[in-house]
Amino acid sequence: MKRSSIAGQERFIFLVLFVLGVFTVVGQTSQTALQKDISEKVTALLLKMTLEEKIGQMNQYNGFYNVTGPAPKDGDAARKYDLLRKGYVGSMLNVRGVENVRAVQKIAVEESRLGIPLIIGFDVIHGYKTIAPIPLAEAASWDMDAIQKSSEIAAAEAAASGINWTFAPMVDISRDARWGRVMEGAGEDPFLGSDIAAARVRGFQGDDLSDPLTIAACAKHWAAYGFAEAGRDYNRSDVGTSTLFNVVFPPFQAAKEAGVKTFMNSFNTLNGIPATGDQFLQREILKDKWGFDGFVVSDWGSIREMIAHGFAKDGKEAARKAVIAGSDMDMESDLYVTKLAMLVQEGKVDESLITDAARRILTVKYELGLFDDPYRYCDETREKEIIYKEEYQDVVLDMARKSIVLLKNENNLLPLKKSGQKIALIGALAADKSSPLGGWRIASDDGTAVSVKEGMEAYTGNSLMYAKGADVVIGDATFIRELTINETDTTAFAKAVFTAKNADVVVMVLGEHGYMSGEGRSRAQLDLPGVQQELLEAVYAVNKNIVLVLNNGRPLAIDWAAEHIPSIVEGWQLGSQAGNAIAEVLYGDYNPSGKLPMSFPRSVGQVPIYYNHKSTGRPEDAGDNLVFWSHYGDESNDPLYVFGHGLSYTTFGYDTLKVEANENGANVTVWVSNGGDVTGKEVVQLYIQDPFASVTRPVRELKGYELITLEPNERKKITFKLTGKELGFYDNQGNWLVEPGDYNIFVGSSSATKLKGSFVLAE
Ligand code: NOJ
Repeated sequence: MKRSSIAGQERFIFLVLFVLGVFTVVGQTSQTALQKDISEKVTALLLKMTLEEKIGQMNQYNGFYNVTGPAPKDGDAARKYDLLRKGYVGSMLNVRGVENVRAVQKIAVEESRLGIPLIIGFDVIHGYKTIAPIPLAEAASWDMDAIQKSSEIAAAEAAASGINWTFAPMVDISRDARWGRVMEGAGEDPFLGSDIAAARVRGFQGDDLSDPLTIAACAKHWAAYGFAEAGRDYNRSDVGTSTLFNVVFPPFQAAKEAGVKTFMNSFNTLNGIPATGDQFLQREILKDKWGFDGFVVSDWGSIREMIAHGFAKDGKEAARKAVIAGSDMDMESDLYVTKLAMLVQEGKVDESLITDAARRILTVKYELGLFDDPYRYCDETREKEIIYKEEYQDVVLDMARKSIVLLKNENNLLPLKKSGQKIALIGALAADKSSPLGGWRIASDDGTAVSVKEGMEAYTGNSLMYAKGADVVIGDATFIRELTINETDTTAFAKAVFTAKNADVVVMVLGEHGYMSGEGRSRAQLDLPGVQQELLEAVYAVNKNIVLVLNNGRPLAIDWAAEHIPSIVEGWQLGSQAGNAIAEVLYGDYNPSGKLPMSFPRSVGQVPIYYNHKSTGRPEDAGDNLVFWSHYGDESNDPLYVFGHGLSYTTFGYDTLKVEANENGANVTVWVSNGGDVTGKEVVQLYIQDPFASVTRPVRELKGYELITLEPNERKKITFKLTGKELGFYDNQGNWLVEPGDYNIFVGSSSATKLKGSFVLAE
């Protein structure tokens, strides 16, 4: 009986596998047929195009006039309008809304000779109208399904608004919290960063690019932009080959393997060559070695910026160097459209490079379905239905909950009791309905985030008293203008201190305004900006029962708070539903499970600080208090909060770590148990160390993780399989090596776990 039912099951499984196999083969075949069809159409179209029209495809302009009004007659806008009509504009960015997109598309399609549609780009970084947590926060969830879903709804809203290409994901690894753009990325780790890169690409692009609710993605900024010297944006990067191949490149390669359609190059020089003019990056690695067949767009004006870098003497030389290096589309430098034809005629640029770039761009346009229907993304009814769709709020709420990291919770001050307490809520950010939307949210509407105050007000069992304490910024905070931080005004302190004095618990929401991170927003200090530290200490002097909720777009150096404040919640900038997610965590309706994707320094002087660093020849104090080892005399080497750190309202135990070597690597098993009395989620993390290698390897490297949920007292066995894929590394020539010998394994709750095993990989 049993046997036959197993045989039945086997037959069923076989049948399912067979059907799946057939579908996959059929799917692949139809995919190849589609590609062939597109390739033939592109070839035929290219034959009809003049040199200038091909160059036109490589030209991208910002939205240059009120597109639905009459065309301007004079000036630069009139000239650009004219170029659009001639078919010399291939793409526009920052035109949004169906009406506006339709207007520019109409000119391209109806007025230009060949009627080639535009591809419309926009920075959809963490949502379009409905705003998800900033990407760094989402990375703290370690939850790829949630991240994919978040990108999916961002794509749907943007696509419904006429956009068909996002300049995301930003997959730059960064170890420097001073760099404002860490908010856009996945943090410091290439393994986690690679998974997130792929999840975002899948989310934006879906399975079918021609679906009007998906958009083309763009892996940016290629490359090493996250290593801008001293964390100052647009600065140069000097990065050695080992770091380049093993840390900088992997998330880009993961995006490429996930099928990303475009790459954006970067503003920085890399080892003396502007990325935009770098043949090694764009041709050798990306297009030749990895076989990337999409197109590369320059960053905004980055072709022209090669002059300021000291790499090209004028615009003409900049255009020549960029196109030879493999930059296919010129974003706003206005140099391809003005210089390339001349360069070809003078024999300084081979026309085949132009044809290749145009081919790549046209292919993506075909894949988006723009040739079948240039107005595919322009449907007013769909726009109305999709923008601010109710269910998207659930998606971003879910994402926001999962992004919160409980950094510290002494004496179980959290979760808060739901009734009978007097709670003081302090901080200008607590009542802010725009700052939680974070940076890079150009299409969003100010004032649409749920504030922490609103989130907490939904819990009516306690009395909630609010006091601002101090402004973080003075005046309006805008995306493009420098902010004025409140460095002096403490007049509202007195009320906050009075409110705190009479409370059982004080919740303080402090940190950075949403526009303090993002492009051009580097900081030399990583403390609580302005007078907020003073405010925190003033409140602490009258009531020590403080829950500090951080709002920030980067790791902060909050050593005083870490020492004195009993509970600290990392609440980032969590988007439209920020306040609800934070309130749920504060009140225990959601048990936090986020883990830091970036180390928190103790002080700015430690930066760059990251867990996967190399050893030194003198890594440790020999115990005799001598000075000659790798350390600071005035600060510890360790971060304040390590990569992978994050607490829960329950506690997780790890035991019985087993590491069994096999031919290809090892099997690692560990038991994880929930020792508390509430259900909790844990990110089980596995790190490896290759202690002796032909090129030195980091002291630890994340190579596996699993998100699990455990009921109280539940135990679960977790298995990781390590193969050459996890154990190998790139040498300084970019060759992949898997070296036999000793490996150490660390498994646990964070990158600081002490649970250790080891194995030997046989020759
Ligand atoms: C410059 C930024 O570096 C890039 O990330 C962005 O996509 C473009 N501007 C377009 O807005």
